[in-house]
Amino acid sequence: MKIVSAPDYQSMSRKAANIISAQVILFPHSVLGLATGSTPLGVYNQLIEWYKKGDLDFASVRSVNLDEYCGLSPKHDQSYRFYMDENFFSHVNIPMENTNVPNGLADDVEAECRRYDSVISGLGGIDLQLLGIGHTGHIGFNEPDEDFDKMTHCVKLKQKTIEANSRFFSSMDEVPKYAVTMGIKAIMQAKKLLLVANGESKAEILYRSLFGPITPAVPASILQLHNDLTVVADDDALAVIREKCPTAIG
Ligand code: F6R
Repeated sequence: MKIVSAPDYQSMSRKAANIISAQVILFPHSVLGLATGSTPLGVYNQLIEWYKKGDLDFASVRSVNLDEYCGLSPKHDQSYRFYMDENFFSHVNIPMENTNVPNGLADDVEAECRRYDSVISGLGGIDLQLLGIGHTGHIGFNEPDEDFDKMTHCVKLKQKTIEANSRFFSSMDEVPKYAVTMGIKAIMQAKKLLLVANGESKAEILYRSLFGPITPAVPASILQLHNDLTVVADDDALAVIREKCPTAIG
């Protein structure tokens, strides 16, 4: 595991974007695993800026997103497909047909999960997976106590996650209660992992995930077993690690 520190959110975003840029420059046909949420927005903005300057080319890149809410159409402004189109895909030259997000409207959710796994394997697996981390230690929508050995599957969201997400909806009732997510096993099969985190609210869970016991109670703790994990985090998110394991930060 490599931990890269950054003084602030902008610097964290730039450093993480640099790692993705290197991947795309070295391997233009890369399969990028992408995440939504507030943390990666700065990474996407930075990649867009470098693309617009002519430094990056996404024409041959393929992408697979981690997750999608069940019941939201791609046009719903809180769907993750909408987020990706708005915040990244529509600003760069990745062909839309090269982008993959689980279909939240699938009638047969189980079949959609199997289809999504076969999309990933058909692409030859994920070269670089970008991850955020939830306050519960969730990655994708893999909530605490989820089995570590699942591929893409449907999850019932925990109340804490529904409450955290409710700020984006006009009422609690509108917040989806289920989601399709790549499972921990699918995430762990990515060749490289890049976890981004910022803000003091992530400091404790980042420490527990990276240095605590490996347990389904903290889903991100499994990342300790990946052989190519890079964590890019700002100083606020690294506060507890800096205090308890100061030599761990490179
Ligand atoms: C989103 C995802 C989630 C988020 C996590 C952190 O695709 O997979 O696991 O990464 O909820 O969200 P933010 O970045 O909003 O704190």
